[in-house]
Amino acid sequence: MQATVRHAARLRGSITPPGDKSISHRAAIFNAIADGEARIENYGPGADCLSTLRIMRALGAGIETDGTSVVVRGGLPTEPGDVLDAGNSGTTMRLVAGVLAGAPFMSVLTGDASLRSRPMGRIVEPLRLMGARVEARQDGTLAPLVFGGGALRGIRYRMPVASAQLKSCLLLAGLFADGETVLEQPALSRDHTELMFRAMGAEVVEDGLTVSVKPGRLTPVDVVVPADISSAAYWLVAAVCHPDAEVVVRGVGVNPSRTGVLDALQAMGADIRIENRRSEGGEPVADLTARSSKLEATEIGGDMIPRLVDEVPVLALAACFAKGTTHIKDAAELRLKESDRLRVTNRELTRLGAHIEETADGLRITGGAKLTGAACRSANDHRMAMTLGVAGLLASGKTTVSSAESASVSYPTFWDDLDALAGAGA
Ligand code: S3P
Repeated sequence: MQATVRHAARLRGSITPPGDKSISHRAAIFNAIADGEARIENYGPGADCLSTLRIMRALGAGIETDGTSVVVRGGLPTEPGDVLDAGNSGTTMRLVAGVLAGAPFMSVLTGDASLRSRPMGRIVEPLRLMGARVEARQDGTLAPLVFGGGALRGIRYRMPVASAQLKSCLLLAGLFADGETVLEQPALSRDHTELMFRAMGAEVVEDGLTVSVKPGRLTPVDVVVPADISSAAYWLVAAVCHPDAEVVVRGVGVNPSRTGVLDALQAMGADIRIENRRSEGGEPVADLTARSSKLEATEIGGDMIPRLVDEVPVLALAACFAKGTTHIKDAAELRLKESDRLRVTNRELTRLGAHIEETADGLRITGGAKLTGAACRSANDHRMAMTLGVAGLLASGKTTVSSAESASVSYPTFWDDLDALAGAGA
């Protein structure tokens, strides 16, 4: 499907994005291996989160859905009758691998062409150190992954990348291991696993950059999933870059390990109010109001990158509207996502007229160039499709976005919400 987006004269409206993808995956996987029943409300409706439900069902969990409500009857995983397919979802593959590594049966985990090209050596290597029998294509680096079943032992491990997926994989494996698992992180990444493990009775301890877990069973926990800040980011950027905009995004999860996008935009001078702060199921939530702003360039790098890793493409778009040159660095991980997001962001925003220079680990974006509608290609990557959709609202004339349906990987109603926001202002 190709989406057509026209320049919006005004942006007005109130949007509640879908349930957080990261928290939804964890609520489903952790409750599926817990001892009893739990209810998840506002479960992420995207294809990635549905891949997780399908796999946990294949591993023996009882899963009933009614809209975005999910009831999970958990227990120890049982041998699946077929290959498990994680689709496009890196989080599903890496977290489920942590469960399968310590399970007493054989299993195979695969995904779509994009996922089968993404690095799995980062989980295979430490899982093998824990004693897992795991094989993978290309010398243990690419899916499909084959698990032979067997006993695990806890390890002390220095993680080479600040990846929440890797951390969560090893914490899950640590639940099934003999002895403690201790992980040393190069920087903090999202901590939804640690928060939910604790709520489920696991012995997980965080001390600076070190996180450890002791083996044990999880007790089920009901979860109300907040709206996804990574989905909210598109509307925040649309509003602060547009000359006539006011947009409210409601019920957004504002866990500090995820709010790098707010920090970066506020450092650029964005007018974003954070209101009605509250807590839902141990996660902080707020309503965000974004208005037209005069933006200045900034520098984004270092420890901030894991806190805004999925928002780099849309932040690069924001930088096109800022005075000066914004430098995004230390972001080489972006090349290993659903697409090479540094390359695709550079290629597609340049097509619209942006002034961008791509570096090995980031982008330099000089703001102020006039963006003009064009035919853009999303590389089948949901975050690129949504970034280009927002770019279309801001650029003059008409923009088309190829494989626009990829937005439904995380945000199935994205194009409807975009139309509503632009239409309300027409
Ligand atoms: C995720 C972690 C991030 C992020 C992904 C979801 C998670 O990846 O890009 O969309 O839910 O753990 P890494 O932290 O592994 O880079």
